[in-house]
Amino acid sequence: MAVSKRVLVIDDEKRMAGSVCQVLSREGYHAVASHSGREGLERLDEQPFDVVLTDLRMPDLDGIEVLRQIHERHPETLAIVMTAHASTESAIEAIHHAAFDYIPKPFEIEQLLSAVARAFRCLETERLRSDMMSMISHDIKVPLTSIIGYTSLIRDRRRGEWHPRAEGFLDIIASNANKILALIDNYLTTCKIETGRLELVRRPTRVIDLLFEMEAMLAPEAAKRHTRMVIDCPGDLPEILADENLLFRAMSNVANNALQYSPPNAQITLRAQVLPAEEAPLGVRALALVIENPGPGIPPDELPHVFDRYSRLGSSRGIEGTGIGLFVVKTVLEAHGGAVRVESQPGVTTRFTLYLPLKPEKPSA
Ligand SMILES: Nc1ncnc2c1ncn2[C@@H]1O[C@H](COP(=O)(O)OP(=O)(O)OP(=O)(O)O)[C@@H](O)[C@H]1O
Ligand SMILES: [Mg+2]
Repeated sequence: MAVSKRVLVIDDEKRMAGSVCQVLSREGYHAVASHSGREGLERLDEQPFDVVLTDLRMPDLDGIEVLRQIHERHPETLAIVMTAHASTESAIEAIHHAAFDYIPKPFEIEQLLSAVARAFRCLETERLRSDMMSMISHDIKVPLTSIIGYTSLIRDRRRGEWHPRAEGFLDIIASNANKILALIDNYLTTCKIETGRLELVRRPTRVIDLLFEMEAMLAPEAAKRHTRMVIDCPGDLPEILADENLLFRAMSNVANNALQYSPPNAQITLRAQVLPAEEAPLGVRALALVIENPGPGIPPDELPHVFDRYSRLGSSRGIEGTGIGLFVVKTVLEAHGGAVRVESQPGVTTRFTLYLPLKPEKPSA
């Protein structure tokens, strides 16, 4: 779901507020005008805004007081001051009252847009930082604590004896380590996507190898759930030009979901095949990788949101997760010129298909 960037413009000069809103709306911001300090604060109390642009001199409530109250009541909102009474003192006073930035009136459209863009970049950095803090403090700490706990159980140091269930403990350790790796991979990939820095390192890749590697990685978790993973892949599948690490992460995000969101004793099918151009949604010959699992599935009204960042649907109730796995899958597949599709029959089966473009087949001699 694309979240619109919300900006509140507070200025008693109605024409000024209106034209600032117009400029911002043209750039894709959701801009709302308020014509007094008091009205602006009321709006902020009613609904959240990311950034506020406020005049400094207004009849009912002084801009500095508006800034003070924004800082006190909505510390997550960034305020930019715009005023015709440009002076060093008023700029210093505004910054002193936690204004993020200052633009003197009259200003050029470019000045306005660059101040607003800077504010949003700052908010984004702050959000990524806080996501990372919560990932480290909770999502990673839990599996890491489990790894440390089981490691100390494997061998009785005093007697020098191995625990009779040491092998099982190693599986738990491996599966928790993989959880941490997936979290870090997905988080870093999301950061690169957000900052437009996702770059692919493409190499000829054998999907069949990735499938078996993935099966081995998920085997302990599958065994715990008594789930069978069945690989159906022809040995002569053509190689594809892909970023192996990113593709492996994308495939394992889908396969891991198939495990998490299916009941115990289920069978998960991992099928790879070549599709001719007319059967592939890419309009060219493609490799299709199908991952199918039984289970509660996804109802039709939730399907459009399945790839949204941070979306966790009804099926995730009681199951831990961050809601970024499928967002990464979609972006990685699209970066390869591919696509991902989902079909679900609630209560019966869910099927994700990953499509990757293949070179056209050479005509036979
Ligand atoms: N095979 C599936 N069957 C049923 N629901 C699914 C399936 N795959 C995904 N979902 C639903 O889609 C949501 C989004 O999946 P996604 O992998 O992006 O996030 P997550 O699994 O919640 O967390 P994480 O980022 O840790 O993987 C899940 O929360 C779940 O509700
Ligand atoms: Mg997931």
